[in-house]
Amino acid sequence: MISTKLPKMFYGGDYNPEQWDQATHQEDLRMFKLAGIDIATINVFSWAKNQPDEITYNFGWLDELIDSLYESGVYVCLATSTGAHPAWMATKYPDVLRVDKDGRKRKFGGRHNSCPNSPTYRLYSERIADKLAERYKDHPAVLVWHVSNEYGGDCYCDNCERAFRVWLKEKYQTLDQLNRAWNTAFWGHTFYDWDEIVLPSNLSEEWGDRYTNFQGISLDYSRFNSDSMLNCYKLEYNAIKKHVPESVVTTNLMGFFKQLDYFKWAKYMDIISWDSYPSLTTPPSETAMANDLMRGLKDGMPFMLMEQTPSQQNWQPYNSLKRPGVMRLQSYQTVAHGADTVMFFQLRRSIGACEKYHGAVIEHVGHENTRVFREVAQLGEELQRIGDRLLDSRADAKAAIVFDWDNWWAIEKSSGPTIALNYVQQIHKYYAAFYNRNVQVDMVSVDTDLSAYDLVVAPVLYMVKPGFAEKLEAFVENGGTFLTTFFSGIVNENDLVTVGGYPGELRKMLGIWVEEIDALFPDQKNKVVLKDKFGKLQGSYECGMLCDLLHTEGAEVIAEYGEDFYKGMPAVTRHTFGKGEAYYVATDPEQCFLDELIEKITTDKGIQPNLSAPSGVEVSRRVKDGISYLFVLNHNTEIVSYDLGQLEAEDLISGHQLSGTVSIEGRDVQILEV
Ligand code: GAL
Repeated sequence: MISTKLPKMFYGGDYNPEQWDQATHQEDLRMFKLAGIDIATINVFSWAKNQPDEITYNFGWLDELIDSLYESGVYVCLATSTGAHPAWMATKYPDVLRVDKDGRKRKFGGRHNSCPNSPTYRLYSERIADKLAERYKDHPAVLVWHVSNEYGGDCYCDNCERAFRVWLKEKYQTLDQLNRAWNTAFWGHTFYDWDEIVLPSNLSEEWGDRYTNFQGISLDYSRFNSDSMLNCYKLEYNAIKKHVPESVVTTNLMGFFKQLDYFKWAKYMDIISWDSYPSLTTPPSETAMANDLMRGLKDGMPFMLMEQTPSQQNWQPYNSLKRPGVMRLQSYQTVAHGADTVMFFQLRRSIGACEKYHGAVIEHVGHENTRVFREVAQLGEELQRIGDRLLDSRADAKAAIVFDWDNWWAIEKSSGPTIALNYVQQIHKYYAAFYNRNVQVDMVSVDTDLSAYDLVVAPVLYMVKPGFAEKLEAFVENGGTFLTTFFSGIVNENDLVTVGGYPGELRKMLGIWVEEIDALFPDQKNKVVLKDKFGKLQGSYECGMLCDLLHTEGAEVIAEYGEDFYKGMPAVTRHTFGKGEAYYVATDPEQCFLDELIEKITTDKGIQPNLSAPSGVEVSRRVKDGISYLFVLNHNTEIVSYDLGQLEAEDLISGHQLSGTVSIEGRDVQILEV
């Protein structure tokens, strides 16, 4: 559990009382009680308040705030306030200001605007974290330390350029090695001096957001940028740990956030926390997948839902209200996938600037007679009742999906074969095939130990990092089932093609050889035609985007293309390798094909759904001390029923004993203890 001081699911969120007067703060405390709120994230954007100039620090207001929250039964998630630098710092030390990809130096404004390689930013951010930790190290209210806020963005300033060269020197040692890794013989890019290397921006190698002339340098820049920010985080992390070694330190992540390699970051986070902002049209499977990724960052360890809106956002084009019941449903969905906290942005709605139309527990009207407050209070009451029952429980999956940031960067920086290839969308198609049947799945990295899994799926494993092919081979040889897709096994970790036939290092295990890759226009389709019935699959299905033209080298053909000059060539194959099997899906088939394919493969492996339930009803599982908690989440607006079969269960929320055919209201939740 995150803290024995609060042995329940933390409930609360971001709180910015510095925007209000004392009377309002007192009123907030009264309302927090009514809502069952027991934690407040404070000090996120208060750097300018805490430090009005270079040498003065004012923490008096924070002392009072922390004390008054604590006295009223509210614990604290204490941020370090470095999410936005003060205006005086930007004026006096312009090195804190970033340079954008078009080479424009920013001025003061907005947030997340500090250059990660600015000596000034590093000095003062570390210093304030140090001072805060020293001051509040023994305060009983502080349960979690929250470094900065949603790290992200990039910078192309001279400091970053110099730091990039240092980073490269460390990585490659010699220019010869770097020239080889980036294949700089192409277009006469050979470097003879480290200082000739400039950052890949729109002024040099990159063209807009997507393409680059030199994948090698762009890929290394993405790694370097992620590392630069991680180094800033580590400075603050270490400053806190110096004073409070046993502290729980985190920073709030953002799910599938492209710029930062969260698997690398996770090693320096005591607990993962993240901000979940689905819109009205986000499919529940996407939110589920993002939660599973967050759980996967630390090998299944429970994480914190640090932020979600109780009602609406302000930054989406159309900021719909969460319909009645949806906030509760989404909160439990996050818990179902491994969260041990439910927290909001924000507890009270601002009156000025761009977040004044962002939802809050306490709205502009200022009292508790609102739909949103009532829903928040109901959930608060339920979480009090559930107490510590679910804390530390784990989701146990037999299937895993591999996700890799370097692979993501490399795929989407690639010039060709198609602009339509979106890595996360491909991951989601396979994830949805599990989700649609309520089969539990973990999101894992290439470093994860695969031995706990029976089935591993790695959609578009374009980049094969050193050692990963051998690891997969060992997994399959020992009886595991592996599935990968088109555009896999193409390059090494430097984005250099593995010659000798695609899918390179995966070729032997997959028993195939890919000769060519066809890219289809958006309205151009081909067909995947089953040779024989395969599970429920039969006949033909639509496919598109990319079609690999392949030859088998020992693999069995399950389906072939139905059209074009490659009609009759294999589209889906299966290869027996050691005691296991390796599947290859050579194109991008329609979702129903993948649903049935995954159903067949999971059934063959004996991987069971958590429960069979009607469409739109998600069932996820967490397990603790031999007890399973099945979260039944009805994402439909209508009441539906499902069959418990032989199971008998108590619903943790209502206390009802359930068996046989069970009904669940639209957008309702049941947590079955079985
Ligand atoms: C998050 C951020 C919060 C707030 C929120 C609004 O990204 O961490 O500070 O801005 O968005 O949705």
